[in-house]
Amino acid sequence: VNILKKKSYYYIINKKRKCINMKRVLTGLQPSGELTLGSLIGSISQMVKYQEEYESFMFVPDMHAITVKQDPKLLKERIIKNVALYIACGLDPSKNTIYIQSENLYHANLSWVLECHTYIGEASRMTQFKDKSKKQENVTVGLFTYPILMASDILLYDADYVPVGIDQKQHVELARNIADRFNKMYGDTFKLPEPLIPEVGAKIMDLSDPTKKMSKSDATGKGVIYLLDDEKTIRKKIMSAVTDSDNKVIYDPINKPGISNLLTIYSSLKKIDAKKAEEHFKDYNYGNLKKEVADTVVETLLDIQNKYNEIINSDKLNEILDNGREITEKIAKEKTYEVFKKVGFGRY
Ligand code: AMP
Ligand code: TRP
Repeated sequence: VNILKKKSYYYIINKKRKCINMKRVLTGLQPSGELTLGSLIGSISQMVKYQEEYESFMFVPDMHAITVKQDPKLLKERIIKNVALYIACGLDPSKNTIYIQSENLYHANLSWVLECHTYIGEASRMTQFKDKSKKQENVTVGLFTYPILMASDILLYDADYVPVGIDQKQHVELARNIADRFNKMYGDTFKLPEPLIPEVGAKIMDLSDPTKKMSKSDATGKGVIYLLDDEKTIRKKIMSAVTDSDNKVIYDPINKPGISNLLTIYSSLKKIDAKKAEEHFKDYNYGNLKKEVADTVVETLLDIQNKYNEIINSDKLNEILDNGREITEKIAKEKTYEVFKKVGFGRY
């Protein structure tokens, strides 16, 4: 089906959904690298599920991406690519508000006020900053304040739930603490957000080193499956996944991280639990296990790629993004003005 030709007109539906007083869910994936199988399982698929129950906001946090060095041309292309991929992976523009962070100037504005209500001590405890700053040479102030911009992304929209991987949980908790502090100082202003962490697939590991996360910013990309990888590449990466030598298919993430990762990938895509996947593969050797996991990944990704090719060349993308900008600007402006007024700024 051509998902963009569906009758339901997203703008109207979005407005209607707003009136029904649904809980709001919001998340984004920074375009700092190409989206991966980890992004799909850990984040986008979760949103595809939540869009049925909640009012959903999904955005491209492009301002976060420049906390590490980016090529401007590539970044620009990737932002649009990611929007197309969100939709190809099943995010329905009629059920989601889809937008680009930098197109809405209020994110950075609110972030400044939040920075002035965040202590150096608590920001310094963010483990992602500690990890990332160790790996980089010229660490910017932006990398340090990154979680506060993220708090702004969340608090601007009174999000009830923020689906994130386990590595981002601490950032959502920081947002919650800042919101709580602000509310106590100035009266009720922000909703306290809750992180939603998926049980299965919270962390898909790198195929060539199953003790580290499959990351879109990985330097070699050897153990990373990108959503737009071709079939041959996908198969090759899975067939050469690092495992162990005892040839028993058992789900045991501590002692058998490689095999457990393959079982997690399989079970997430098949929407079954890992134990059930283990049962299914109990008489398989590693070669056959890998082959069947590869078949499943190829089937999923080729379907996504077909939809992606249809969307990336259509003019609907601009319409969807204009609509997203219009909706989010109104909400964000109102919240920012309320905050500016409460802290005593200008003539707000
Ligand atoms: P990152 O790719 O590091 O920017 O992560 C952004 C978000 O994508 C995380 O908070 C997770 O929700 C999801 N994600 C990214 N990589 C993975 C992965 N390997 N496994 C599970 N979730 C992931
Ligand atoms: N930090 C998230 C990532 O690593 C992206 C992000 C930015 C985000 N702002 C957010 C996620 C707000 C959830 C809510 O990709």
